[in-house]
Amino acid sequence: MAAKPTDKKLTDEVKELRKQLLHCSRLEVKHRELKQEVEALQVKLERHLRSQEALARSERKYRMLFNAARDSALVLDAEGRIIDVSQGAEKLYGRSAEDMLGRKMADFIAPSCASLYRERFSGFRQLQDADEEIQVLRRDGSTVDVWCKCTPYTDKDGCFDGVLVFDREITGIKLLREQLIRSERLAATGQLAASIAHEINSPLQGVIGLIDVMKKTHGTDQKLQKNLSLLEGAFDSIRKTVKNLLDLNRPGKHVMQTVDINRVVKDTLALMRSDLKKKKVHHRLELDQQLPGITGTPQQISQVIMNLVNNAVEAISGSVAIDGNRAVSYPEGEITFRTYRRDNHVVIEVSDNGPGIAEEDLQHIFDPFYTSKKKLGMGVGLSICHGIIEEYHGTIKARNAAGGGAVLTVELPVSVKSGK
Ligand SMILES: Nc1ncnc2c1ncn2[C@@H]1O[C@H](COP(=O)(O)OP(=O)(O)O)[C@@H](O)[C@H]1O
Ligand SMILES: [Mg+2]
Repeated sequence: MAAKPTDKKLTDEVKELRKQLLHCSRLEVKHRELKQEVEALQVKLERHLRSQEALARSERKYRMLFNAARDSALVLDAEGRIIDVSQGAEKLYGRSAEDMLGRKMADFIAPSCASLYRERFSGFRQLQDADEEIQVLRRDGSTVDVWCKCTPYTDKDGCFDGVLVFDREITGIKLLREQLIRSERLAATGQLAASIAHEINSPLQGVIGLIDVMKKTHGTDQKLQKNLSLLEGAFDSIRKTVKNLLDLNRPGKHVMQTVDINRVVKDTLALMRSDLKKKKVHHRLELDQQLPGITGTPQQISQVIMNLVNNAVEAISGSVAIDGNRAVSYPEGEITFRTYRRDNHVVIEVSDNGPGIAEEDLQHIFDPFYTSKKKLGMGVGLSICHGIIEEYHGTIKARNAAGGGAVLTVELPVSVKSGK
């Protein structure tokens, strides 16, 4: 029996419904799968975000540490190219990070240290920890003394990956070391001078005694008396020199007091006036009238000034005396004295319009017995000045002025009594 049309319709509808139901259940499965996938992705995303945050944190920490170091820090790759530059390095090298990144370390080493650098730090891959005193080259062409320390680093598999370079500026330490060497040398020289002075003293006393006896026994011989007086005068001057030498080596013998530097400058110049006039050297005073006092003795300060003036005069007249063809003429010899206060120090500047100090002499002139003067130079003047100034906890430095001539600068601490 054939199905009634209503039955057929019903059957079709049921079929359709079943189909849709099936589709729905498939969709539901798909939806569930998608949901799971989305959830898994979300977990992954969160984990990724967290690790990115941790990475950024660690990068910040690294950068902070890298930049916090006072020393300069550079990171080089396995080929020796700079891949990271700390703020300390930018400051020390006087260059921006962009200027350094991607370039070789050797580009920033002073030419005078190039071979030492190659010898010590080349062969990067074999490099163990290495350190050396070198000079680095700043952008403006100046150089800085540094203690350079290189440490290789490896990748996660332990293979060589590059080098960390730390540079510490040692200008101050070098200066101190040089001062120490100089004062040791000076102490040794001082001891030698004292023992020589001692040796001269005893026979000198004998000679002076003998002259005295001769003067008494030959009282009537006028000519002899005159000659003996001359001899006496000469020996007296030797005795004074010897006494000065011995005094120099008796620290603490001088009575320390508050000294008015301007007063000492003027008094010393008064003593030297006739000599300066004879050599046609003028002087100019630019003295700070509010200058505080320093602790010392006027005699020793005067001795320092006298030495500086003598050197200036010798430099000026020496340059005029050179033979006509080569002479740089300084018709108007002039020495300028400037005093002023800088922080807790009194500064005395003695400058001249002589030829200045030769570059190769500059670092030696305070050494005992160092002289550039062929005739009559003893080379002790500046080393004595250095000794006195050091005893006063001050500094003495020499440089050439931009416009020519030498400038000797003494800095002494303001005396406590003068108020800081
Ligand atoms: N004003 C100056 N101008 C040029 N050179 C100077 C001056 N002062 C010092 N010098 C240099 O310093 C050296 C050392 O000076 P010093 O210790 O006084 O010894 P000396 O005067 O016996 O040579 C001098 O030989 C000279 O080369
Ligand atoms: Mg001298």
